[in-house]
Amino acid sequence: MKITFFSHSTYILEIHDQCLLVDPFFSGNPVFINTNFLKFIKRVDYILLTHAHYDHVCDVELFASKFNNVLVISNYEISNYFSKKGIKTYGINYGSFISFPFGKLKYVWAAHSSVFNDGTYGGNPGGFLLHTDEGNLYISGDTSVMHEMSIIPAFGKLKLSILPIGGRYTMDIEEAIIASNFLKSEKILGVHYDTFVDIRIDKEKAKERFFKKGKELVLLEKGKTIYF
Ligand code: NI
Ligand code: MN
Repeated sequence: MKITFFSHSTYILEIHDQCLLVDPFFSGNPVFINTNFLKFIKRVDYILLTHAHYDHVCDVELFASKFNNVLVISNYEISNYFSKKGIKTYGINYGSFISFPFGKLKYVWAAHSSVFNDGTYGGNPGGFLLHTDEGNLYISGDTSVMHEMSIIPAFGKLKLSILPIGGRYTMDIEEAIIASNFLKSEKILGVHYDTFVDIRIDKEKAKERFFKKGKELVLLEKGKTIYF
């Protein structure tokens, strides 16, 4: 499995030759000002959306028009919203694993909120649990730490957890450490930090705090890829 991180909660997962773009936020993202970000992205097969906030859904239409066969996977309300705009969608909700060519996917609870910029209700916020034969991955989405996370490893050992660490709107570093204990997860990719002034973190200190708990916090520069 391969992950290319762009910034904020935006990255591409490559699993079994399928490209999954998660929470696309480029337009209006201060990290991408004056950058032709489309040149970085050659292929998208799926777009996974955790909730309806602008910093997670703002470029769905852009990518859906650039890559014709894109399938948007999200909760029922978000899927409906984009399906009305003529985009192919697959609406789901909490409660079961669904098979796709890249593996099995489940929509899981997040403690957050979900509304579109135009005021449209965005359903319940969530995250994704992906079980693939290249390993299991948990994407929490924007959330605080919560006890519900302890059920995630009951479905299978996680190879990687992708958790927000910037604080204010989501977990901060201390909460993410507690979350990683609930998840029984040793390797964490940190997201949702440094994009805006109010979610700035000290990256070295953050890594050290995880390291002291026997865990690895991976933080990637814009456009960097890891294999795991
Ligand atoms: Ni949010
Ligand atoms: Mn957010």
